[in-house]
Amino acid sequence: MSVSPFEPSPLGPLTVRNRLIKAATFEGMTPRGLVTDELIDFHREIAAGGVGICTVAYCAVAPEGRTDRGAIWLRPEAAEGLRRLTDAIHGEGALAAAQLGHAGPVANSVSNKAKALGPGRIPAPMGGSLTKKMTHDDIRDLLVNYRNGARLAVDCGFDALEIHLGHNYLPSSFLSPLLNHRKDEYGGSLENRARLAREIVAAVRNEVGPDVAIWAKLNMYDGSRFGFQVDEACDVARMLESDGHLDAIEPTAGSSLLNPMYLFHGKPPRRSFAASMHGIMKFGMRIFAPIFLKHYKYHPGYLLPLARQLRHAVSMPLILLGGITDEAGMDMALDEGFQFVAMGRALLREPNLPLLIQADPTTESKCVHCNECMPTIYSGTRCPIRTGEIPDPLEARASA
Ligand SMILES: Cc1cc2nc3c(=O)[nH]c(=O)nc-3n(C[C@H](O)[C@H](O)[C@H](O)COP(=O)(O)O)c2cc1C
Repeated sequence: MSVSPFEPSPLGPLTVRNRLIKAATFEGMTPRGLVTDELIDFHREIAAGGVGICTVAYCAVAPEGRTDRGAIWLRPEAAEGLRRLTDAIHGEGALAAAQLGHAGPVANSVSNKAKALGPGRIPAPMGGSLTKKMTHDDIRDLLVNYRNGARLAVDCGFDALEIHLGHNYLPSSFLSPLLNHRKDEYGGSLENRARLAREIVAAVRNEVGPDVAIWAKLNMYDGSRFGFQVDEACDVARMLESDGHLDAIEPTAGSSLLNPMYLFHGKPPRRSFAASMHGIMKFGMRIFAPIFLKHYKYHPGYLLPLARQLRHAVSMPLILLGGITDEAGMDMALDEGFQFVAMGRALLREPNLPLLIQADPTTESKCVHCNECMPTIYSGTRCPIRTGEIPDPLEARASA
């Protein structure tokens, strides 16, 4: 093993206290799209638990780009709360990243009271409607919104920006040959489908300059054989690398639109997902859950086989995500040439896991990747085992 996950490490212009990043986990604690004390406490606890960078999700750059009206929307009214949030993260010695995004077809247009946007008129199931096909004027406005959102985030103290290019949110829906049937310069060839993502990245970098770290969360595979595939992702990663605006790429996979479980792997929380929904969505979820929420076998570092292909395609820093929960996983990632690791569910279960692992490298995470945290995004993101809402299978096993 050449490097330790707990050594300070450069990320673009930043020096991060270690190589651990808290992944974006939409926190569901911003009912009016504004920071609450609950959200600040959530991030303060994770920052105090030892990560190097704490990522705040999800920060929409436009009102129609919120997943629903409970997502943070980067606007002047949000600034005061965002400043308090970054102060709290910095106060615990961590750096703060904002996940910048636009939900596109994943947006709930009914909740947002704004039409969802897409590369064409494609289903936007959360609002039970079709997206509006983006015109060139819409694209120009979108780039202005990304610039303004990035500026606001940086002015509020964020050290880093994560640009969401995954999960079939807007830029990722443009990348997908399944969802993007445009005939203009934003559709057709991979170069054209990647144009929007590249323009967004360039707009954000041009706005904030070189002193802010910027990485992209890029899909490697949408979880559909007709969608975006890893060979195309390698080509897009090469394009992004040659554009020179990014400090790193965080490869991800899956689609909030078509195949959400591919993001996570493990048992789908079908029952609790249906229970967390209302009306027609609840009914639909009950019927379609077995098709929509598939079961992919979980194993540690489950995205590594795909991410390794990106590792071979580019030489820029990469952040390994997906099933990293212990020192062995961190070491494996660093040995494979990744510069950082990101962790989601394991930190919801134990916000202080980094400190525990640093003190004792044999520490095993208590996260059992049951995915019961997923449906809690609608009521304040949390691990229901940690809060005692559901029994801890590890305790049950130990006392059996
Ligand atoms: C409750 C929850 C909410 C999430 N919200 C987001 C989000 O807002 N944006 C995003 O890009 N990924 C989101 N993710 C995905 C995570 O960032 C990460 O990709 C996934 O959990 C796999 O990493 P893990 O194995 O370390 O949990 C979420 C994950 C969870 C568990």
